[in-house]
Amino acid sequence: MIELEAIEKAYGSGSTEALVLKGISFRVEAGEYVAIMGASGTGKTTLLNILGCLDKPTGGHYRLEDTDVVSLDDDALSHLRNHKIGFVFQMFHLLERTRALKNVMLPLIYAEEYPDDAEERAKKALTSVGLADRIHYKPSELSGGQQQRVAIARALITEPAIVLADEPTGNLDRRSGLEVLAIFRRLQQEGRTIVVVTHDQAVAQHAGRILLLSDGAIAHDRPVAEPRDAEAELAALPKENER
Ligand SMILES: Nc1ncnc2c1ncn2[C@@H]1O[C@H](COP(=O)(O)OP(=O)(O)OP(=O)(O)O)[C@@H](O)[C@H]1O
Ligand SMILES: [Mg+2]
Repeated sequence: MIELEAIEKAYGSGSTEALVLKGISFRVEAGEYVAIMGASGTGKTTLLNILGCLDKPTGGHYRLEDTDVVSLDDDALSHLRNHKIGFVFQMFHLLERTRALKNVMLPLIYAEEYPDDAEERAKKALTSVGLADRIHYKPSELSGGQQQRVAIARALITEPAIVLADEPTGNLDRRSGLEVLAIFRRLQQEGRTIVVVTHDQAVAQHAGRILLLSDGAIAHDRPVAEPRDAEAELAALPKENER
């Protein structure tokens, strides 16, 4: 599915050049759930943006389902991104004055061909993240956890094979964070490939494998013997009326 070989990323040029990724190689098979950990500034977001075709490496090879990503021009890159990849960000990145339904429809509105069933699909995506009763709410009328679930529904609307998330639980309380992690587990069970960047060991333990980035290189690549079960942890939390 994903194959990186000696990926480098340099910012700046000449005497101000800084090499942020220093030769990263790994594979992620279809259906894997991988967490990328590492201290602040080690290049996690830089790497995720390359995986998500939002940015190009300055060296090395990246194959995504047999496509040589590095050789693509910007149009081909955005086509690949729109068809294969769903992105979830720490800060949600929703349009503030726009209701949940339309926020979720946005990737389809920007797609080359607007599907007739866009609204139907957006409702389905919102229902799948537990927000069927919130489709007409604006982000300011939703909790942080609900906003992140809208953002996940938006990432899923194009049916991406790969879901990439950068600190998706960073701004959430424990329950909302677990709800997001339960959705990721379900997406994996549907056969999607999940890559989550987090600095939180407890979040990473929900994945099947943890990559540790250190100073722009992979320091460890280890399977998680017994991944945590977000569904079970949610069930064990004390009941709350409001969140
Ligand atoms: N556009 C840019 N131009 C120059 N340097 C950059 C740019 N983007 C990132 N960097 C540098 O690359 C390094 C890695 O940044 P990155 O955002 O990938 O780190 P990170 O691991 O995601 O950190 P955090 O955990 O704080 O989000 C940093 O030193 C940063 O200053
Ligand atoms: Mg980052």
